[in-house]
Amino acid sequence: MKDTKNQIEKLREEINEHNYRYHVLDESKISDAEFDKLFNQLKKLEVEHPELITHDSPTQRVGATPLKAFSQVQHTIPMLSLENAFNDDDVIAFDQRIHDRLGIDTPIEYCCEPKLDGLALSIRYENGMLAQAATRGDGERGEDVTQNIKTIKTVPLRLRGTQIPQVLEVRGEVIMTKKSFEQLNIQAAKKGEKLLANPRNAAAGSLRQLNPRITASRPLEFFAYGLGSVEGVTTPDKHYDILQWLKHLGLRVNSLVEVATGKEDCLKYYKRIGNKRAALPYEIDGVVYKVNDIELQKKLGFVTRAPRFAIAHKFPAEETTTVIEDVEFNVGRTGAVTPIARLKPVHVSGVTVSNATLHNMDEIARKDIHIGDTVIVRRAGDVIPEVVSVVKPRHAQVKKIYLPKYCPVCNSLVEQVEGEAVARCTGELICPAQQKEAIRHFASRRAMNIEGLGDKLVEQLVDTQLIHTIADIYDLTQSQIEELERMGTKSAQNLLEEIEKSKSTTLARFLYALGIREVGEATAKQLAISFKELPALLSATEEALQAVPDVGPVVATHIANFFGELHNRTVINKLLTAGIHWPEIKESKTLPLAGKTFVLTGTLHQMTRDEAKEKLELLGAKVSGSVSSKTSYVVVGDDPGSKLDKAKELSVPVLDETEFLVYLKKHG
Ligand code: IVH
Repeated sequence: MKDTKNQIEKLREEINEHNYRYHVLDESKISDAEFDKLFNQLKKLEVEHPELITHDSPTQRVGATPLKAFSQVQHTIPMLSLENAFNDDDVIAFDQRIHDRLGIDTPIEYCCEPKLDGLALSIRYENGMLAQAATRGDGERGEDVTQNIKTIKTVPLRLRGTQIPQVLEVRGEVIMTKKSFEQLNIQAAKKGEKLLANPRNAAAGSLRQLNPRITASRPLEFFAYGLGSVEGVTTPDKHYDILQWLKHLGLRVNSLVEVATGKEDCLKYYKRIGNKRAALPYEIDGVVYKVNDIELQKKLGFVTRAPRFAIAHKFPAEETTTVIEDVEFNVGRTGAVTPIARLKPVHVSGVTVSNATLHNMDEIARKDIHIGDTVIVRRAGDVIPEVVSVVKPRHAQVKKIYLPKYCPVCNSLVEQVEGEAVARCTGELICPAQQKEAIRHFASRRAMNIEGLGDKLVEQLVDTQLIHTIADIYDLTQSQIEELERMGTKSAQNLLEEIEKSKSTTLARFLYALGIREVGEATAKQLAISFKELPALLSATEEALQAVPDVGPVVATHIANFFGELHNRTVINKLLTAGIHWPEIKESKTLPLAGKTFVLTGTLHQMTRDEAKEKLELLGAKVSGSVSSKTSYVVVGDDPGSKLDKAKELSVPVLDETEFLVYLKKHG
């Protein structure tokens, strides 16, 4: 047994050593096959002796089962961001500020580093063992991504060396190489999945996977660039030396880090790195200069969200020319139909670009873009590449670009409203591109108020094809819901009860829930009051719609187009058949509280203020936000505030919650 234990430990040490040489020192002594052989030997021994498996064994990078959600992590020292410099003058001014603040006139020493375009991460080691990894989040609190970070081979599970700090929080950037990013997109294209805009998004998406196996299949890398809290050791007094120290501890540090003396050297570094940029295997969007002396860093301190001792000198957006081979139209979450140029693939700052957004038809007209044109494309950091301009004079035969009449996804009419740049698909309720958003809105609190039908669940329900439209919500069964992630018998029951409850609603809520463009709550209420019944509204002409307060020609067109779409009518019929109903709306003049104005203030207990408002409006009353001599009643809950004083001042009658409930009963 002791022998096996020794053998296992020896293998782990050997594997860790090779990993370190390969990932941190960029030198490898053995072939991949030899490495795999060692790894498999270790795996075999661990399978035979599971009691000898330790958390930091190189075999344990992926093991965990999928998480249900990421938990939050409070950063002991906030994770800040950097101020930006966009030109040499900004850098010169930065250097001047440092001189002024420190009262030093000799050149300042800076540590110069590439600014990696990934996402910031904090990794905590306790007594040399990887304990926790967290994303930056809002700088104060991030997400616990420990399981996923363990799958990154450049992150040691255990620190090396003899002088191990009790606590070491190392900060750095997680990135995906350009090559891995392109391969990932090739695979995604093959599977008909959405393409990722850039390596940074790909890295972020990979890191935010609840299933660490998926993260493990994505080639991510980590570069350390700084420290968070450290306990139990004295750290070097220069930033550059801290980075070298981290390297000795087994962490990967970028090999292009250098010390520069004075601003001129910094600007030279910027030029040199800029020239190398396209050839680097990963994306950088600038360089970072940090005052090298830690004592001076401390003296300089911080402004709100960034240190005074460092600045990011950004590279300008890169441009190149290529040809527009075709234009396709993409339908977004809100139905926006966006023209996308399919480009002859071209390299811009090291990434192959084959698509660029053309924004909308106005942009196409303004830039005079045609299919077949040679164009200048620009790629700036994390934004989707765009077409800057057409290279003229034209030599090629070009074709005009037309907005499609019908949605490329669901075949509904595409609407281009006068005066609006964006064209939209009118198939709101049936267009797969818009389904999730439509369902989320339908279930939201101020619409049908289906508690428990949140974003994550909607996501799952649509992805598993259990529901396609809002009407399908009412077909869901206990067993279907139970089988979803994070759902059990009880939560499925609760959800079904909520769905059942939502069937009893108001016409105004129902109209709002349909998610017709620009029909917010107020407009939905006006429509309900004016038309009183759904059939009257369904067959209303644009003129009749415009007679409703709040409804102008644009909104009238939206409403008419929405109800004119057969698919939407089918969904509405299905909803009504499922049993959605509302109380009849009486002629407002004949309603019991017609002509009365109420003001609500303070917290009510039997209902929310919104519910009270809805009840009053159904009875014909108006609900206003401020007290005047015309106010009929002020309803007062707990902690009422100044409205109560105003009511007393103007002698407006006041009802407490109990009196209000009695009043409603009497008039309802
Ligand atoms: S230092 C207190 N060094 O840039 C300063 N940041 O715009 C902490 N970044 O959120 C940052 N490469 O994710 C630093 N060599 C580098 C960097 C770097 C990339 C990122 C980092 C940060 C963002 C700030």
